[in-house]
Amino acid sequence: MIKSIILAAGKGTRMKSETPKVLHTIFDKTLVGYVIEAVNKTGLVDENFVIVGHQAERVEEFINNNYDNAKTVLQSPQLGTGHAVSMVLPYLNDFEGEVIILCGDTPLITEQTLKEFIETHHDKKSDLTVMSAIFENPANYGRIIRNNDGSLNSIVEEKDANTEQKAIKEINAGIYCLNWAKIKPAFGQLKSNNAQGEYYLTDIIKWANEQKLKVNAHILKNNEEIFGINSKTHLAEASRMLNQRIIRNHLDNGVTIIDPLTTWISPETEIEADTVIYPSCYINGKNKIGKNCKIGPFAHIRGDVVLEDNVKIGNFVEVKKTTIKSHTNACHLTYLGDAEIGSNVNIGAGTITANYNPLTKVKSKTVIKDNVKIGSNSVLVAPLTIEEGANIGAVGVITKNIPAWALAITRAPLKILEGWVKKG
Ligand code: UD1
Ligand code: CA
Repeated sequence: MIKSIILAAGKGTRMKSETPKVLHTIFDKTLVGYVIEAVNKTGLVDENFVIVGHQAERVEEFINNNYDNAKTVLQSPQLGTGHAVSMVLPYLNDFEGEVIILCGDTPLITEQTLKEFIETHHDKKSDLTVMSAIFENPANYGRIIRNNDGSLNSIVEEKDANTEQKAIKEINAGIYCLNWAKIKPAFGQLKSNNAQGEYYLTDIIKWANEQKLKVNAHILKNNEEIFGINSKTHLAEASRMLNQRIIRNHLDNGVTIIDPLTTWISPETEIEADTVIYPSCYINGKNKIGKNCKIGPFAHIRGDVVLEDNVKIGNFVEVKKTTIKSHTNACHLTYLGDAEIGSNVNIGAGTITANYNPLTKVKSKTVIKDNVKIGSNSVLVAPLTIEEGANIGAVGVITKNIPAWALAITRAPLKILEGWVKKG
């Protein structure tokens, strides 16, 4: 199995944040989490080494609590990307296999691209493969220098490049695959005599050529995938790119999305064909939405939501940790949390599941069985079960279980005092 090294020790100054750069999130998943998951999904890697430095404790804690096959390695001080990789040497002393190196701030990288990249490394029997990309505006990236015969010569950083080299549009994408045993000695020989005074990882290419090892570059098809995040603007751009990729996927699968520009759908949401998503919906977390559902406009689905077929979730409805069976409607101004709702249920406008008791800090469940009708403006105080077919009169404050087919009314009777208002 392959090992991965994920570089995440850098400072991320431009984020202007107290949160370490790689712990910023898109759809509540961290940037480094996206990278680790893409690597894991290839099925080719059994262990990830995450290089940490700035605010190391926070990144370490996150990685240790969330990813079983990831280990953090401290780099302090941070003397460059080559120095960062060399921190792993003690852990991979006897390792003979391949290592892939990536950055922790490129959340758009996909498992398919990584697989293809590793396959190319195998097919070409490479000792070292670099991922490159063609950028119309290559500023700030390392440039790929090729020999006259097209073979890879070296990488020159922007700050070290001459005018001719700066004009090169093929850049270093920052992802590498190496035969560890053969390339490992390079890390003891890197020098920092360059414009930035750093130990450059990119210098291993020149080194490998000098050792007559097989070096290749593999050109990335979709430049978006190596989009790196250095600022909040980049974070917003990456979020939108990821979202648009997800939306395109759903559209291809037959989901109707009226306005892709205002619809947000998390990567872990499954939606079946012929469901319609109206504008301005935010669907976050892990959800399963059946077919022929109607969602929105202006709906908020917060995760752990299962909607069977033909469910309607209308405007200003928030749903969290809730299962809803087929042909049930919650069309207006409603909060459904920690609930289990049957089929053919109608949830009136303004219904709230009061699932949280702020005094005891306990969350409780609301169970609503098939064919129940809840009148408008009702508060369902959990824990609570409303049995099959029961009706709740409008403005019900329901604090006890309601038996099947009963009518529950809690409001004060209407009083009409005729002539009570004095005409002016
Ligand atoms: C690097 C490459 C450049 C490539 C670009 C792609 C080098 C010398 N240059 O440049 O050719 O085009 O990535 O994005 O490698 N990091 C550490 N420890 C360090 C320094 C950096 O962990 O001591 C991490 C950073 O957190 C970051 C990654 O390595 O995740 C890349 O570092 P950065 O300084 O951004 O490299 P670039 O200058 O962008
Ligand atoms: Ca960078």
